[in-house]
Amino acid sequence: MKGIVLAGGTATRLYPLSKAISKQIMPVYDKPMIYYPLSTLMLAGIKEVLIISTPRDLPMFKDLLGDGLNLGMRFEYVVQEKPNGLAQAFVLGADFLDGDSACLILGDNMFYGQGFSKMLKEAKDIENGACVFGYYVRDPRAYGVVEFDANGKVLSLEEKPANPKSNYAVPGLYFYDSSVVDRARKLQLSARGEYEITDLNKEYLKEGLLQVKQFGRGFAWLDTGNCDSLLEAGNFVETIQKRQGFYISCIEEIAWRNKWVDNNQLFRLGQELDKTAYGQYILSLLD
Ligand code: DAU
Repeated sequence: MKGIVLAGGTATRLYPLSKAISKQIMPVYDKPMIYYPLSTLMLAGIKEVLIISTPRDLPMFKDLLGDGLNLGMRFEYVVQEKPNGLAQAFVLGADFLDGDSACLILGDNMFYGQGFSKMLKEAKDIENGACVFGYYVRDPRAYGVVEFDANGKVLSLEEKPANPKSNYAVPGLYFYDSSVVDRARKLQLSARGEYEITDLNKEYLKEGLLQVKQFGRGFAWLDTGNCDSLLEAGNFVETIQKRQGFYISCIEEIAWRNKWVDNNQLFRLGQELDKTAYGQYILSLLD
């Protein structure tokens, strides 16, 4: 399975910040936002990742993350000229995927909670069909919404419904089998002019090939859509890191724990950043 981080879009709710810099490069406490979704792919055990962004922002991501070899990974980059919708990621990523199964994560989605790695690894094993998640929120109107019956069977999926049939939002993390590119190519533009991820998921649902796993209430799925939620996400990361001493989404640590880099390489990565608490944390892993 290969991974895609979709990190484009216009982020109008973050103006004027996002006029100056890509939303997904903005800091969430001590690291760029894209580290969080990238670390989710890494926790799933995905080593090859395509980063998709705008013509303006893609060079910033290349500059930040390079070819990924320093993490024992492989990064590729593709431009999305216009924000034509999330499902376009698979059409743009067809050459990169090269017939493989795919995990898509949105560049502004942050996840944190116990048991997450296990859930990811289960979802990653999917061979036939798709797996997405459901997360209970007070107001799901801004999201894809999934409706279940009493036995947890999926009844419907709707994108940003005015009258949601449930409180379960679908977060921006999606696992698909290798038929995803063909399915994405067949999608029609929606009324708002986008290739909708929810329409893609509905194709799988129609064929009985969509699994939806629920995140429990102790699990954090954080939003970074406006200045308030961005600051709150940063405060959340600070609180957990200071309280526990474990870092959230330290990509160097995950690469090392996955055995994609050895102690010597981790030392080099830490040394490059040793003027910061982040770098010191990396070095402390070797104690
Ligand atoms: O966050 C989860 C939600 O993400 C899902 O529940 C919805 O079903 C899904 O449609 C999506 O809704 P959003 O309204 O959050 O999508 P938005 O247009 O804000 O895009 C999400 C991220 O993807 C954002 O960082 C910008 C980026 N993006 C978006 C589009 C439409 C792209 O890179 N390219 C695009 O074409």
